[in-house]
Amino acid sequence: MKIAILGFGTVGEGVYKILTESKDLYQSRFGQSIEIEKILVHNVAKKRDIKEANQIITDNFEEILQDPNIELIVEVTSSKNQAIEYIRKSLMAGKHVVSANKAAIAVDFKELQKIAIQQNVHFKFEASVAGGIPVLSSLGRLIAFNDISLLHGIINSSTNYVLTEICKGRDETEVIAEARELGILEANPTDDIAGFDARRKLAILAMMILQIEISEQSIPSIGITQVDSRDSEILNKLGYEIKLIAELLNGEKSGLKEKQIALSVFPTALNNSKFNRVNGMMNEVTFNGSYCGELRFYGAGGSMYPTANAIVSDIYETITNKPLYFPVKENQYENISDQIESSFYIRIPDSLMVNEDLNNEIIEMAEKILLAKKEVIIFSKPISNQKAVEL
Ligand SMILES: NC(=O)c1ccc[n+]([C@@H]2O[C@H](COP(=O)([O-])OP(=O)(O)OC[C@H]3O[C@@H](n4cnc5c(N)ncnc54)[C@H](OP(=O)(O)O)[C@@H]3O)[C@@H](O)[C@H]2O)c1
Repeated sequence: MKIAILGFGTVGEGVYKILTESKDLYQSRFGQSIEIEKILVHNVAKKRDIKEANQIITDNFEEILQDPNIELIVEVTSSKNQAIEYIRKSLMAGKHVVSANKAAIAVDFKELQKIAIQQNVHFKFEASVAGGIPVLSSLGRLIAFNDISLLHGIINSSTNYVLTEICKGRDETEVIAEARELGILEANPTDDIAGFDARRKLAILAMMILQIEISEQSIPSIGITQVDSRDSEILNKLGYEIKLIAELLNGEKSGLKEKQIALSVFPTALNNSKFNRVNGMMNEVTFNGSYCGELRFYGAGGSMYPTANAIVSDIYETITNKPLYFPVKENQYENISDQIESSFYIRIPDSLMVNEDLNNEIIEMAEKILLAKKEVIIFSKPISNQKAVEL
C-alpha cells in the first residue's frame, strides 16, 4: 500500500522510522509492503534529520490528494483547522485516514465519521487518546455488546509528569521549565496545563462510547494551573497524591439514573488508588463494561515511538480489517455534568488574604483545626463541579 504522511515532526518522523526500519520484517511476515510516497510539511526549507526523506517532501497537499496511487493518509500535523480540511478532503477523495490529531478529531468527530461512512473508507485515530495505549481499538470492539458505565483516565502525559515531579517535593516553576526544555510541555503549555488537552481526549472517548456529539467546552474541567508544591506537600502529609483525572459516568451502574451521563476533568487527591502508581509520562485508562467487567490499560501516553506505533498499528488494521465506525446518533442522554457534586480542597494563600479581620479569624480557626500556618486548607462540603469551575 502507498501512503502519504502529513506532518514530519515528532510523530511523523517516528512513523517514517518504524516503517523504514521494519520494512523487511513486515514484508517477510505479511508478503506486502507499505511505501511512503510523499510527506507534507509546512516549511520545505527546514533542515531535517532524516536526509533520505528530502526527496519526497512537499508543501503541496493537492499533489498528494490528486495522486491515485496514494491510498492512505497519515495526518500528524500540528495544525487544527487545516488538519480538518486535510482529513475531510482525503476521506472525500476515497483515501483511508489515520490521525493523531485530537484537536481536529474532537471538533469534527460527527462530520468525519459521516464522510468516512459515505466513502466506505477507514478513519482511525488510536494515537489521539493516550498515545501509545491501544485503548480505542479495544473500546471499538467492546462497545458492540458492552454498555460502558464508568471510565477513568490519566490521559495527559505532560501534566502527569509535572504532577509526579511536584509530588516529589520539587518546585512547580522549576518543573514546568524543565518540562519545556525536555519537550514534554510545548512553549505555550496552556493546552496541557489548563486541562484542555485532557478534556478533548475525554470528549473523543465519550463520543465513541455514547455515539452522541459532545463539545469539549461542555466538560467541566480544571487543569493543574493552580496546583503547586505547597498543595502536594499538604496533601502528601494527609496521605494523598494529586493526579489529573478524566471521568465519564454513565447510567445506574455509575451511581447516576438511567440515561444520565456526566463528564469531568479535575486534579484529584487520591489515596490508595491504582492511579497512584501511574507516574511520569505514563497514562492509564480504566473502564467498566457490562460483560467485559473492569479493564485497565496502562502505557506510555505520548512521545515519538509509542505514538507512532499506535499510528502504524492503525495502518495495519486498515490493511487487514473492515472499517469500524462510530456514527453520532440522536442524543438520548441527559448530561448532568454541571450537577455532579464533589468535595473540593481549597487553599487560600496568605497573599490573597487582604482583609485583616477575616485573615485573623481564618488563621485562628485553621491553626486550631488544621496543620497550616499562614494559610487555610478546607475540604469543602460537596459543591457542584460546575460551581467549582466558576469559583
Ligand atoms: N508528540 C506526541 O507525543 C503526540 C502524542 C499524541 C498525539 N500527538 C498529535 O500528533 C500531531 C503531531 O504532533 P507532533 O508532536 O509530531 O508535532 P510537531 O513535532 O510540532 O510536528 C508538526 C508537523 O506538522 C507540520 N505542519 C504544521 N502545520 C502544517 C500545515 N498547515 N500543513 C502541513 N504541515 C504542517 C510541521 O511542518 P514543519 O516541519 O515544516 O514545521 C511539522 O512537520 C498533533 O496533532 C499532536 O497533537 C502528538
